Amino acid sequence: MLTSGLGAGPMVTELEKKFASFASVKHSIAVNTGTAALHSAIMACGVKQGDEVILPSFTFVATAEAVVLAGGKPVFADIDPKTYNLSPYEVEKSITKKTKAILPVDLYGFSADMKPMREIAEKHELVLVEDAAQAHGATYAGKPAGAFSDAACWSLYASKNITTGEGGIVTTDDDQIDETLRLIRTHGEKAKYSSLMLGTNYRMSEMQAAIGTVQMEKLSSFVAKRRQNAQQMTNLLKESNKLVLPYESNDQKHSWYLYTARIKDGMETERNKLMEDLKKKEICAEAYYVNPVHQMPFYRENFKSAKLPETDKASQQVFSLPIHPGVSEEQVDFIGKSVLSLL
Ligand SMILES: Cc1ncc(COP(=O)(O)O)c(C=O)c1O
Repeated sequence: MLTSGLGAGPMVTELEKKFASFASVKHSIAVNTGTAALHSAIMACGVKQGDEVILPSFTFVATAEAVVLAGGKPVFADIDPKTYNLSPYEVEKSITKKTKAILPVDLYGFSADMKPMREIAEKHELVLVEDAAQAHGATYAGKPAGAFSDAACWSLYASKNITTGEGGIVTTDDDQIDETLRLIRTHGEKAKYSSLMLGTNYRMSEMQAAIGTVQMEKLSSFVAKRRQNAQQMTNLLKESNKLVLPYESNDQKHSWYLYTARIKDGMETERNKLMEDLKKKEICAEAYYVNPVHQMPFYRENFKSAKLPETDKASQQVFSLPIHPGVSEEQVDFIGKSVLSLL
């Protein structure tokens, strides 16, 4: 079987079971991209035309795209400079009568501050959807990422901690959201040729799911290798007084999807030069994200944004270094020492 017309063949079902167990949730719904996961979750949580959704601008564009595709209006709020994640304080300031949902992102694989987000959501009767696209293996308050939101959206894109090539998954404890997501995934149908609601084709193929089930077995060893590489990188880079290194705390563990450091204030031009020089040494360093979403032409022209000084500053100062499981100890050493000598 290559795919199932009604959404879940045997391999998809197996992947969903494994992922639900990994995320410690009741339901997991596999789809064909992380963007599809976000779009369908936002739809399933009831975001409709004109509803406002509060999210960070310091993220991959798909987070905002999903809101717009569902008919919602993205309201960008600023980040906490220590974690690069949406600031709960800024979220609360952005709430209006039209706010329907909060959409924090676990940026670089470090969970957003979900307890205060949950409190704010409950106080103002808002839905909490989490963009956990980068967070496989991250924990918050001892629980896997996604545990504090109504629905968490994961990507299984090629670069992620585990992959199906292209793919995505939504996790939730809510039976109603689960049922709606399964409808949206396959044309709003429970039975063929009888759409109950607006849906689309967001089905994952059996081949992608087969890859995913094997990847699930490898996730903990992949994350352990990333963690080891990250620790080695930190040991090298802490020699530099020009850098701020990634933050982690005892009750909040990184998935180490990206190892992101920032250059200190006033040295922004050095960041860009460093990127160029590292590329000359064939080190694939990259600045995620040089253009925050609110500054992208489409979003600037269509959605007025408040000023986001911490977002703007971070976008000029951050850079990420390769620490994925294919990077050896010698290579981490070479990368870290290259950064130090170039700085
Ligand atoms: C934060 C974030 N959100 C959403 C996505 C979208 O996922 P996908 O590329 O699988 O559609 C990605 C990954 O690419 C991401 O990094």
